[in-house]
Amino acid sequence: MLELKKIFKWVNNGNNRVFLLKDINLSVKEGEFISIMGPSGSGKSTLLNVIGMLDEFDEGEYEFFYEPVHKLKEKQRTALYKQYIGFVFQAYHLIDELTVYENIETPLIYQDIKASERKAMVADMLDRFNIVGKKDLFPQQLSGGQQQLVGIARALIAKPKLLLADEPTGNLNSKQGEEIMNLFSELNKEGVTIIQVTHSEKNAAYGSRIINLLDGRIEQ
Ligand SMILES: Nc1ncnc2c1ncn2[C@@H]1O[C@H](COP(=O)(O)OP(=O)(O)OP(=O)(O)O)[C@@H](O)[C@H]1O
Ligand SMILES: [Mg+2]
Repeated sequence: MLELKKIFKWVNNGNNRVFLLKDINLSVKEGEFISIMGPSGSGKSTLLNVIGMLDEFDEGEYEFFYEPVHKLKEKQRTALYKQYIGFVFQAYHLIDELTVYENIETPLIYQDIKASERKAMVADMLDRFNIVGKKDLFPQQLSGGQQQLVGIARALIAKPKLLLADEPTGNLNSKQGEEIMNLFSELNKEGVTIIQVTHSEKNAAYGSRIINLLDGRIEQ
């Protein structure tokens, strides 16, 4: 499904070059469920953003569904993202001006799904995540955990082939967290490829492979 080859990402800080990702080689097959672990600041979010084509990189090659991402224009990358990827952000990234309902609906609008169908799909998600009563509220009116659930619902609604989730349960209580992990397991059994970032050994164990990052490098 995707392959990263010798990926480097850096920022220049005066005369110093600070590496955020160093020599990342990673191949992910369709149907895998991978957990990325590592200490704070080790580059987990950066790597996930590169995989999701939200961040650029400075060196190396990235092939996604047979498309050479390193050669694509931004517009083409965005199109691939919209077609294949659902992303759960570490800091939610909900749109403040849109209600819960509208936030969850957004990916469907990108996909040209007609209004009546969108309505049914959003209703189903609201129900599934137990947030029907919150549908007309704005993100600022929700707790952190509720915002996280909205972010997960938004990531899943368009049935992505690849789900990228950055600490998806970081702000949930343990019962909610377990429900989300069980949901991810189910989706994975249905064929969705998942890459999650987690600090939790327990959550990592839901996956089939763990990748450990340290200082921007994959530890063998
Ligand atoms: N645009 C940037 N400019 C400079 N440094 C950056 C930039 N983006 C990230 N970094 C640095 O890169 C390192 C990795 O950041 P990243 O957010 O990927 O860490 P992380 O492993 O996700 O950490 P956490 O577990 O705390 O979320 C950090 O030291 C961070 O300060
Ligand atoms: Mg992070």
